[in-house]
Amino acid sequence: MSRGSYALGLVAALAASSSCTSESPKLLQGEALKDPESCRSCHASHVDEWSGSMHAYAAEDPVFVAMNAVGQRETNGALGDFCVKCHAPIAVLEGATKDGSNLAELPPYMRGVTCYFCHSVESVEGTHNNPLRLASDGVMRGGIADPVDNPAHASSYSRWLDRDRRESSDMCGACHDIVSPAGAHIERTFSEWQASQFGNGEAARVSCGNCHMPGRKAPIADFDGVKLREFHGHEWPGVDVALTPFPNREKQRAAVEKSLAETLIAQLCVSPPLADLTVDVVLENAFAGHAFPSGAAPDRRFWVELVARKGDAVVFESGVVPDGGAVAELGDPNLLLFRDRVFDAEGKETHSFWQAASYESNLLMPRPAPDHRFTKSYRVPLKAGLADRVTMRMWAQPVGLDVLAPLVASGDLAPEVVAAIPTFPVTTVEWVAADGYGCVPKDAFGP
Ligand code: HEC
Ligand code: HEC
Ligand code: HEC
Ligand code: HEC
Ligand code: HEC
Repeated sequence: MSRGSYALGLVAALAASSSCTSESPKLLQGEALKDPESCRSCHASHVDEWSGSMHAYAAEDPVFVAMNAVGQRETNGALGDFCVKCHAPIAVLEGATKDGSNLAELPPYMRGVTCYFCHSVESVEGTHNNPLRLASDGVMRGGIADPVDNPAHASSYSRWLDRDRRESSDMCGACHDIVSPAGAHIERTFSEWQASQFGNGEAARVSCGNCHMPGRKAPIADFDGVKLREFHGHEWPGVDVALTPFPNREKQRAAVEKSLAETLIAQLCVSPPLADLTVDVVLENAFAGHAFPSGAAPDRRFWVELVARKGDAVVFESGVVPDGGAVAELGDPNLLLFRDRVFDAEGKETHSFWQAASYESNLLMPRPAPDHRFTKSYRVPLKAGLADRVTMRMWAQPVGLDVLAPLVASGDLAPEVVAAIPTFPVTTVEWVAADGYGCVPKDAFGP
């Protein structure tokens, strides 16, 4: 990002707008234009939805604050504005923070990924680590070619903000792809999308916004003369939820739970016992436009719990996590855990992903990746008795408890935050002997 041209532009914009104050006395400027609260009088629903989103939470998130603090300590400040450039980009552009250590003291309009930030994007100058350049003309850019004039701001169409254009994915993707200071490609949502059936090939392009900003017919501004338009959702449910008091917490949580539950196709296949009973868990990432999990995969813990019973007795189990336990520390040889691991320059595994020099990945990839339909076989020993019921559950935890424990131990994170980490159900499939040997549901992948 070029802070220099931004500052110059700001001066030019202020000069330009002050010369026409007689015509548009209420045109929002400076801080007022950057403050989401200024948009509420006309765009109440956009403001309300955004307020509960992770874009609004990006600089409040106590896990973010703790990790950034640890990262600054570990690197003696060399980490600099690496993290805040994405989590509080306006604060960085304004020169109000150099390392994010003072975020709590900054005015709200500088925290998080704000309306002004996205709606001022003028060009996308790279593919990762937020290379977005903002205009400083005060024009709010969006997907509407014929916006009704209003006294608060000038409006303009932009292909970077039209979800029906693939360029809009370049805009989102510029932040949703991270290369660590040591050069490891640790978050790859954008590049995964580019290689997927959704981002690849000229015919069928589905943008980030097509899936993450669902449209509905509604006016988009409470203002005279506006017609019915397509309102695009500004909640962006993903995996994370607010871990501290925050607007719309329950609503956002419900949206995340629903979205996670609609991502996979799952099937459980039980073969007739020969030596042992064989149970295949088949999972397909059918509806995400990238891997599942994606992005913050070094912190995510998505895993399969499999329990086989004979009557009420458990004859086999895998992935059963005791209350408050960390799934990554189960020591279960059969555990099916989807996540990334990152390693520092010495090849040592680390949770300090800013130190990452390399990574290993085990994620459910989207089509057309060869393993987009993933099968894992479990052998259920017959000696404990022939199972008559097998239950498979997949769970998703936004941040592993093994990642959080060191942050609590170092005094950077309050223990209450750890207790607030949810574990979401992703999918459940059960086989019972009465189904007969074979797969349930039978036609999960078509007849
Ligand atoms: C992460 C980026 C991002 C943030 C943050 C954001 N928006 Fe948007 N917004 C978009 C995109 C993308 C579209 C266009 C969707 C399309 O037309 O395909 C949009 C569309 C709009 C529109 C046009 C109507 C519509 O729904 O398409 C309005 C008005 C709007 N946003 C207001 C706001 C306000 C107010 C805020 C803050 C409270 C905000 N936006 C925050 C990305 C963002
Ligand atoms: C005084 C009312 C008012 C205020 C305040 C206001 N807007 Fe708007 N905005 C409008 C109207 C009216 C439209 C055009 C709606 C239409 O044509 O359907 C609009 C359109 C937009 C668009 C779409 C532009 C396009 O061409 O695609 C965006 C983005 C937007 N506003 C963002 C914001 C943001 C961000 C704020 C707060 C900084 C804000 N607006 C404050 C009235 C307002
Ligand atoms: C300025 C960088 C930036 C841009 C541009 C941006 N995002 Fe984000 N996005 C973030 C950050 C940072 C977070 C995570 C905040 C947190 O959880 O602490 C996030 C979170 C999300 C989440 C929720 C993830 C979760 O784990 O719950 C979704 C979904 C999302 N963004 C989609 C989009 C889409 C779609 C666009 C484009 C319209 C977009 N983003 C543009 C930075 C950005
Ligand atoms: C075909 C629809 C589709 C497309 C296209 C798509 N996504 Fe997603 N995305 C999903 C689904 C489904 C999920 C998983 C459900 C969830 O996390 O709530 C998801 C999850 C996410 C998450 C949370 C991931 C995690 O594990 O932490 C982010 C962030 C995200 N998407 C951003 C993007 C961005 C950025 C793009 C474009 C480069 C994009 N998505 C394209 C459907 C889509
Ligand atoms: C290029 C932009 C970018 C940079 C740089 C960045 N983040 Fe993020 N961060 C994101 C996005 C996007 C998400 C949402 C990821 C997802 O859901 O897939 C996110 C999510 C998070 C989350 C919530 C999920 C989790 O993993 O617990 C934390 C915490 C976080 N980031 C911390 C940091 C820290 C600390 C740094 C610096 C070392 C950093 N981020 C640097 C874009 C960025």
